[in-house]
Amino acid sequence: MLVSAKDMLNKAREGKYAVGQFNINNLEWTKAILLTAQENNSPVILGVSEGAGKYMCGYKTIVGMVNGMIEELNITVPVALHLDHGSYEAALKCIEAGFSSVMFDGSHYSIEENIEKTTELVKITNEKGLSLEAEVGSIGGEEDGVVGAGEVADANECKQIADLGVTMLAAGIGNIHGKYPANWKGLAFDALEEIKAATGNMPLVLHGGTGIPAEMIQKAISLGVAKINVNTECQLAFSEATRKYIEAGKDLEGKGFDPRKVLAPGFEAIKATVKEKMELFGSINKA
Ligand code: 13P
Repeated sequence: MLVSAKDMLNKAREGKYAVGQFNINNLEWTKAILLTAQENNSPVILGVSEGAGKYMCGYKTIVGMVNGMIEELNITVPVALHLDHGSYEAALKCIEAGFSSVMFDGSHYSIEENIEKTTELVKITNEKGLSLEAEVGSIGGEEDGVVGAGEVADANECKQIADLGVTMLAAGIGNIHGKYPANWKGLAFDALEEIKAATGNMPLVLHGGTGIPAEMIQKAISLGVAKINVNTECQLAFSEATRKYIEAGKDLEGKGFDPRKVLAPGFEAIKATVKEKMELFGSINKA
């Protein structure tokens, strides 16, 4: 059964580890992440961007697929199905479709409008026992066609949004989606400390988990980060494994590529990447 991310994140914040959010794009990615979580007794959050939602034939299809896998694969660790960087409208659609968690990314609105829309969603998610992630200070880089400038969030604005009663808060601290440029200055830990002081026990979310050095991840967790999002790293691992398989050209005779075989190395590569992240985030055996 899908669960809200609330309990797993509060436990992570208290226990000083983080739960990974791994974005899904198809059946193989979803199965790889769920199996890795189960094998390592780790809670997990499956992230779905609006673009991935469209690709996978809509939110209802995804809910059906994930619930089916949880049952058929005997997944007993806590799993949250979470909309990643959603608009207000997408959040409502996911709630209706059966997601257990949503992110409303109001970071591109004025703080007043972000507060207004987040307040509405706090009410709706609370009534249904779902978790809600809000965002202050946009995350840099490009994801699904949405380009963010990469800001450092204002601690006061973070407090205003946290006080609305959201479950978790994504605050920009110089993190960006995708690969980090060679001249990246690193995470803004002074800003993270201020945000933590202003928001108290609120579990904080670190987006752009790909390519952040291990020491920075650990320091971020020690300063209140309880959820870390990873997408690009799984994509790179999947691409490399698939490229090698195709270049080896084994199945080109006869019937051509067997779709099950061609995706198998990428599936294994995602499993290995997810396990490595769970080790780094400290979520193994925390289910
Ligand atoms: P990366 O693609 O950089 O891992 O970031 C993922 C993310 O933050 C999804 O919201």
